[in-house]
Amino acid sequence: MTIPTIRLFIVAVFCGAALTACSETTNPAPAEFIATDASFAGYAAWEKTTPERTGLDPASFLSGGAHDGTDTTVIRNMFVNKSGATRGTGGQFDNGVVFLKETKNADGTIKQILAMTKRGNDFNKDNGNWEWFMVGTDGIIIDRGANLMGGMCNACHSGAKTTDFVFTRS
Ligand code: HEC
Repeated sequence: MTIPTIRLFIVAVFCGAALTACSETTNPAPAEFIATDASFAGYAAWEKTTPERTGLDPASFLSGGAHDGTDTTVIRNMFVNKSGATRGTGGQFDNGVVFLKETKNADGTIKQILAMTKRGNDFNKDNGNWEWFMVGTDGIIIDRGANLMGGMCNACHSGAKTTDFVFTRS
């Protein structure tokens, strides 16, 4: 390399490094999402991940009681808070995505509401950074955490690990 070529090379490398540094500061890690009662408000108007389901819940094959799985009279609806949400880079949903499963009795009254939120920031990191929720029929959070139901949410939803622990949206 001649001296001017070397100079040009150094300038190019320097600019490249500056650009990388720049893009790093404009794309910070996505913020941790800590759900509140408001995160589930109005879910009935969210997009459904699948048409309404009736009959034996697939959960019943895996373990009896979960999601009222053995009760064939319940009506099940699954919702997502972000229309069209799909798994992005690394096969994960973005922080802030909320899935919710509602079971209703045959007369239309709500029986149970369970939800999962992509919390991120290494929360429940062995299970896709999901936080699990039991929500009351009044929309108020009853219980939450990484190991809800003695770790049963993690254990069973691991069956959908290749679709980021979500059964009804790949
Ligand atoms: C024994 C298995 C099993 C257990 C335990 C279980 N689930 Fe599920 N869950 C399922 C299946 C199967 C579906 C798919 C929906 C359907 O067909 O009813 C589902 C669907 C969901 C959905 C809708 C998103 C999706 O995956 O399609 C949410 C939210 C959810 N479950 C939350 C929970 C929470 C919270 C717990 C723990 C309190 C839990 N689940 C425990 C099997 C299970």
